[in-house]
Amino acid sequence: MIKIALDGPSGAGKSTVAKAIAKKLSIVYVDTGALYRSIGLFINRLGIDKTDKENIIGQLKNISLSLEYKDGVQSVILNGEDVSGLIRTGEIAMYASAVSAIPEVRAFLLDTQRDIARKNSVIMDGRDIGTVILPDAEVKIFMVASPEARAKRRYLEFIEKGESCTYESVLKDIVERDKNDSTRKVAPAIPAEDAVFLDNSDLDIEGTVNKAIEIISSKVNLEGLI
Ligand code: DC
Repeated sequence: MIKIALDGPSGAGKSTVAKAIAKKLSIVYVDTGALYRSIGLFINRLGIDKTDKENIIGQLKNISLSLEYKDGVQSVILNGEDVSGLIRTGEIAMYASAVSAIPEVRAFLLDTQRDIARKNSVIMDGRDIGTVILPDAEVKIFMVASPEARAKRRYLEFIEKGESCTYESVLKDIVERDKNDSTRKVAPAIPAEDAVFLDNSDLDIEGTVNKAIEIISSKVNLEGLI
């Protein structure tokens, strides 16, 4: 069993790279952001303000979340409903960022995340995987890219999906989320002491995957896996 923690800010390309690596190594890709996004969706649907901490904490008892895997593809199940296709909007991302700053929300999701890594070899993408969720991970990568490079990628993703937005608005959201995620008191998105930095501002997906594999193979023996 191996545990690979892949942390870093929004839009650094963690999910694309983690999916490719999971496939290459035949391990499970865990997208932890989907859990925070699902709580954001639940709160949004109830019309609760994303800054209303007390109310959000009070709702946790009404939330049941799990991750399911089929042919390596993750689905997130919220109270029995597969919400995977509903959580990738800009609005839900802002809700996710807000709820993720609440310690009770993070504590609520801790076991779900650790359980998966107990049962499977994983590459887990998030913000605090190397620091809080899997501090004993064999490999910790902190993936970064300039805000402009990340905004450009997100913008193209949104346009492809037919969401209307401008590059400037995406960049503004990314800078705002970075600030929320890295300055919050609980589990800020900062690198673990033993994490290896991977800056992919000037790398394409293949280049980033190769660099990540290089880092992974410097920490664990991948013979027989690739
Ligand atoms: O990776 P993502 O964009 O799907 O994450 C959505 C939000 O959830 C993001 O603003 C940060 C938060 N998050 C977190 O705090 N911890 C994680 N392990 C994953 C995501």
